[in-house]
Amino acid sequence: MQTFLRGRDMITTQEFTRDELDTIMDVAMDLKRKRALGLPHAYLRDKVLAMLFFFSSTRTRGSFEAGMAQLGGHAAFIESRTTQIKHGDTTTEMGEIFGRYFDGIAIRHVDWGVGNAYIRGVAAASRMPVFNMQCEYFHPHQALADLQTIIEKKGDPRGKTITVSWAYASSYSKPQSVPNSLILLMTRFGMNVRLVHPPEFKLPTQFLDQAQENARKHSGSFEIMHDFEAGITDTDVVYAKSWGPLLTTQDPAEDKRITDQYSDWIADERRMAMAKDDAIYMHPLPADRNVEVTDGVIDGPHSAVFDQAENRLHAQKAVMALTM
Ligand code: CP
Repeated sequence: MQTFLRGRDMITTQEFTRDELDTIMDVAMDLKRKRALGLPHAYLRDKVLAMLFFFSSTRTRGSFEAGMAQLGGHAAFIESRTTQIKHGDTTTEMGEIFGRYFDGIAIRHVDWGVGNAYIRGVAAASRMPVFNMQCEYFHPHQALADLQTIIEKKGDPRGKTITVSWAYASSYSKPQSVPNSLILLMTRFGMNVRLVHPPEFKLPTQFLDQAQENARKHSGSFEIMHDFEAGITDTDVVYAKSWGPLLTTQDPAEDKRITDQYSDWIADERRMAMAKDDAIYMHPLPADRNVEVTDGVIDGPHSAVFDQAENRLHAQKAVMALTM
C-alpha cells in the first residue's frame, strides 16, 4: 500500500499508481464509515481550500465545501467572473498567490482546449496541491466516487462489465470528461469496459490507447461499440450519459444537427432489462430526465445515482486528507 501522497495534484487518476488509488479507495471507505458513526475526523484542521469555478456546479461545490468542513478546515467559494482573471491575472499568478494563501486549490474549467491547460498552469506555479474539479478532458473525483460505488454495489470489480455509453441530451453540449475518466480508471481495476457511442462522439485517441494499455496490464478488456443495445446486453453497470461531439465539431449548430440524429438513445426500462438482472444504472447528474434517461430508470430499483452522488463527498475527502 502506497500511502505517502502529500503534496500531489489530482488532475487525472492516470497520474496515480494502482497502489495509490487503492489507498484513496481505502481511506474513502474509512471516512464514509466514520461519518456514519459520527466519529470526528478533523485531519485538515485550520487548512483552507480555494474552490475556483469557471462553470456552474451543484454536487462538486457542495461536496468539496462540506468535505473540507467535516475535515476541520474551510473551503472558499470563488467564481472566476468575480475575480480579476478577466483583467489579466495569469495562471502563474493564480498558482503563486493562491498557493500562498490556501492549502489546496480546486478548479473547474471545462472550456474546450483551455480548461486542462489552465489547471496545469496553476499547478505548475502552486506550492500547494491542485485538484481538478472537472476540465474538458477529466473529472477524476467523479470517477473515484463512481469506482467506490461500483465496489460497494458489486464487490470486487475484476471481471465485471461496465457499459460507458453515450445517451441523447438536448439541454447543453456536455463535456467528455466523465467517459474519458471512466475508461481510464475502470480499466485499471480489471473491469471489462465497453465504450458505446455513435461514430461522431469519439473520444481522444490518446485516452483510448491508454485505456487499452490499462486493460492489458490489469487483465480487463476495453472495447468500442456503436450499437447502444448490444452495448447494454448482459452488462453489470449501465453508465449512460450524454457528451458533445467535440472531436467532430465545435460549432453549436452542427453539434445540434449531429446530436439530434440520435434522439432515440435514451436509457429506458426496455433497454435496462437487457442488462443483467442485478445491473445498476449510474449517471453523474445533472441528467436530462426523459430525454437522456427515463424517470422509471433513474428513480427505479436499479438506480445508484444518489449513492454515487454521496460518494463524491467521501472520495474527495480521501484525496484531500491524503494530499493537503
Ligand atoms: N456530477 C457533477 O460534477 O455535478 P455538478 O456539475 O453539479 O458539480
